[in-house]
Amino acid sequence: MSITGEFESTDSCVSHITCRGCGTTYDLSLTDYPCPDCGGILDPRYDLDAFDVAPETWASRGGSMWAYRELLPLRDADALVSMREGDTPLLSCPSLADDLGVGRLLVKDEGQNPTNTFKDRGQAAAISCANERGVDTVALPSAGNAGQSASAYAARAGMDCHVFLNHQAGAVKKDLVAAHGADLHLVDGKIGDAGAAFTEARAEHGWHSVATFQTPFRHEGKKTMGFELFDALDWRVPDHVVYPTGGGVGLIGIWKAYRQLREVGWLGPDPPRLHVAQTTGAAPVVEAIRAGAEAHEPWPDPDSVARGVEIPDPGASPWMLSAVRESGGTGVAVSDEAAVEASLRLARSDGPEASVTAAVALAGAVDLADRGVFGPDDDVVVINTGAGCKTHAALGEAVEADGAGFDA
Ligand SMILES: Cc1ncc(COP(=O)(O)O)c(C=O)c1O
Ligand SMILES: [Zn+2]
Repeated sequence: MSITGEFESTDSCVSHITCRGCGTTYDLSLTDYPCPDCGGILDPRYDLDAFDVAPETWASRGGSMWAYRELLPLRDADALVSMREGDTPLLSCPSLADDLGVGRLLVKDEGQNPTNTFKDRGQAAAISCANERGVDTVALPSAGNAGQSASAYAARAGMDCHVFLNHQAGAVKKDLVAAHGADLHLVDGKIGDAGAAFTEARAEHGWHSVATFQTPFRHEGKKTMGFELFDALDWRVPDHVVYPTGGGVGLIGIWKAYRQLREVGWLGPDPPRLHVAQTTGAAPVVEAIRAGAEAHEPWPDPDSVARGVEIPDPGASPWMLSAVRESGGTGVAVSDEAAVEASLRLARSDGPEASVTAAVALAGAVDLADRGVFGPDDDVVVINTGAGCKTHAALGEAVEADGAGFDA
């Protein structure tokens, strides 16, 4: 296998950036995020007429998410900041498939990324693009995993990095942000308070934002989860995808992957049904799906141990809601206990390790199966966004409380 990042050019078909709020079109050199005119979400656009790769070429490359570089936003291959993120396995889980009464239960195991979550895809894209633009300092608020990931990629790029976490973030994330040499700003309160502290500090210092849906590039990196899924299924789409949803970056990434490959004629007209999984302690998107609303109402008092999806006010909800509806998907809210239990169930039945936040998706799939949403021959994909080691303490406590104890 070649050394990661060894390709001479990306042949990226990216052409410009469009604001989803006001429709303004920007040159790719823009670095003032989000939209300087209206604060809306910035979305990179591609010249798909210039895309002339064969499906076999993409399928044969592998090695990292940069196998799909023609539909990623980085143009200068020398600016790449990569640690072989992506190319994660799609693991068949026959025991759980039996339990749920579905044809195949497939776990996309994002824990096998450099910092053990799918956040590496977004940060590899955002920090490579920042590097391409000559940035020397990046910053973001985070529930934990994105901050850890940004710290790692910023270190690799030789950039300074400021990470704003609320004090409840898990110890693994706090320790590893510091281990990478980033500046850790711990904020009292919840993720919204970390966001407010970040906004204030950024206004003062002018740092380059790699925050959720401020940088235009995180959902581009996450798009590669969709490319890999369809690639692994020989350019078919699964019947269902269940996603643990916070800000919605990955959900929208997978949706955009489907839309782009549909447009170039690689996929058929039936999309995968995208299902939003959240917890009962913070379910603004699930509630908006239930209410048939076009946007969410902010969740008044978010409270869940699944911190990555404890997001009360996701700005991308209109985009998520239209994707879920157009795809024929739905929403499901599970308890914290059900998420912990789902993680243990996966670990004991088919083996993969899921963090509590990631396991919200599996608990959601269990619920959807009970509700009869899946057919007996369906392919159901559960995105395991992060590894069990990220929340090992919560899992260990649950096992002890069960009286089950540890084997080893
Ligand atoms: C493990 C994990 N899963 C899911 C999410 C939610 O991600 P998204 O913003 O793509 O909805 C997060 C965000 O912090 C996370 O850390
Ligand atoms: Zn705008």
